[in-house]
Amino acid sequence: MTTWNSSTLSDLFVSITPYSSEADVESKVIVPLLRILGYSARDWREQFTIGKVKLDFLVHPKEAALPYPPYLVIEAKAASKNISHFGWQISGYMRKSGAVMGLLTNGYQFRLFYHYEGKIEPVVEYSQAQLIEEFNRFYKLLCKETCLKAIDALYKKHQQFHIQFGTVISKAFANQAMLGLFKKKNPPSPGEDINQVEASLVEPESTTPVQKSKEGKSMIITVFNNKGGVGKTTMTINLAAALNQLGKRVLLIDIDAQANLTTGLGIDPLDDIELQGKKDITHLLTEPKTKLEDTIVRKRWKAIDIELDIVPSHIRLSQMENQLMQTVDSDRLLTKKLKNHGYDFVFIDPPPSFGKVNRISLMASSGILVPTQLSPYPVRALEYVLEQAYQLKEYREDNLPILGIAVSMYDERSSTFNLSMVERIYEIFQKNPEGEEIKLFPEKTWIPRLNVVSKCPDWGYPLYQVEFEPQLSQHDKQTAQNAIDRYRELAKHLIATIDERGES
Ligand SMILES: Nc1ncnc2c1ncn2[C@@H]1O[C@H](COP(=O)(O)OP(=O)(O)OP(=O)(O)O)[C@@H](O)[C@H]1O
Ligand SMILES: [Mg+2]
Repeated sequence: MTTWNSSTLSDLFVSITPYSSEADVESKVIVPLLRILGYSARDWREQFTIGKVKLDFLVHPKEAALPYPPYLVIEAKAASKNISHFGWQISGYMRKSGAVMGLLTNGYQFRLFYHYEGKIEPVVEYSQAQLIEEFNRFYKLLCKETCLKAIDALYKKHQQFHIQFGTVISKAFANQAMLGLFKKKNPPSPGEDINQVEASLVEPESTTPVQKSKEGKSMIITVFNNKGGVGKTTMTINLAAALNQLGKRVLLIDIDAQANLTTGLGIDPLDDIELQGKKDITHLLTEPKTKLEDTIVRKRWKAIDIELDIVPSHIRLSQMENQLMQTVDSDRLLTKKLKNHGYDFVFIDPPPSFGKVNRISLMASSGILVPTQLSPYPVRALEYVLEQAYQLKEYREDNLPILGIAVSMYDERSSTFNLSMVERIYEIFQKNPEGEEIKLFPEKTWIPRLNVVSKCPDWGYPLYQVEFEPQLSQHDKQTAQNAIDRYRELAKHLIATIDERGES
């Protein structure tokens, strides 16, 4: 939040005289005003050309959910000009650019315009003194936070429109192959080097993860869905690998007595942990003196340059419900142990239930990620999952946001069916008191159901490693690449979601 007070604005207006040029108004009033509204220089473009017109300022942050339309255009005039004569000009600019809001100013007068269903209406006009007086209102309407929320609302409308339109199209052409909707990416053309394609997708700054300095937001995320077998553990492992490839430091906590995450990453809870005298999640949850670092196992896959830290689980955990119930403050013990953890992301993989360990996970988390399959039972279960997450608020002092619904195993060939499932998900959102806030992650992040993905747990590594798996054909490896791309998109989308929400 940018700080301002009436003297900030007065100081700014002092620099304007009746002789100030248009350029003066731009640099001495508009740019400082944009900064007060919370925008940084990356959020606007000056002298932006659309066709034959040049907009003085086009304001649209890069992290907005949609690249278009812009939220705000600003037209500056020299101080000597009467802005009443230029309403037609900014209206034309707003129509051309599709901008939601317009601001016309000569440094003395500030006239606001709103674009609604093709009509552009002046909303209000302020003198300098009135603007100082009413700045709270002006701020609420034009600040960056409002801008991002407005574009977000448009994005949701956009998504719903496409879903409905897609349903109409797919019904009309039910017997014919769908050409674009829900189709997977083209496989690389013959002779195209997949590794090269892959390499070009890697973010330029992704150096060895261990050397990366911690930056951006840090999150503890429970991958939560009390429906069994929806792909929580598989998604956790591969999403973690994708984040690590993007340079993020990741810790995985297996809090499920099935220990699928532990074994899925090639760690045997008995041979590698217990018989070696090492500690696991059961010690972390019940022994106040056991620290997080006492329980961490580091796994590194050199060939793919991925490193993940894991707190392993053990079947013993299944008999500890009573002990956990009796442990003083057990709900908050994990929270305490995770204080100052130093990772960019901590993922907790709980069992498919709503028992004690799920409560412990959610209490220790700063966000929830909900994987779901696009099929009737898991989609139906979502309603309960979202309700549970909502009810947990009672026990927490702070907010526990649902970062999004991630599709975990979908059938790429059933586009009509997928669309109907997505429609149901939206209906469920509408029933939840916070449904407005919840988002289904976009299609490019959806993970397809693939045989090759289900084989990885047996081999004990993330999907990235299949490139080096001697038992796999070239075709299987190419198929795996499709899923790897999706996990990477999912990772990027998660990072962007967290940045946007400003969670930490
Ligand atoms: N994208 C995928 N394609 C094919 N199979 C998958 C995919 N994702 C997961 N699976 C398989 O589906 C099964 C369930 O997955 P997973 O264990 O990840 O689910 P889960 O929600 O963690 O289950 P649980 O509720 O038991 O913890 C596993 O056999 C896994 O290999
Ligand atoms: Mg699991």
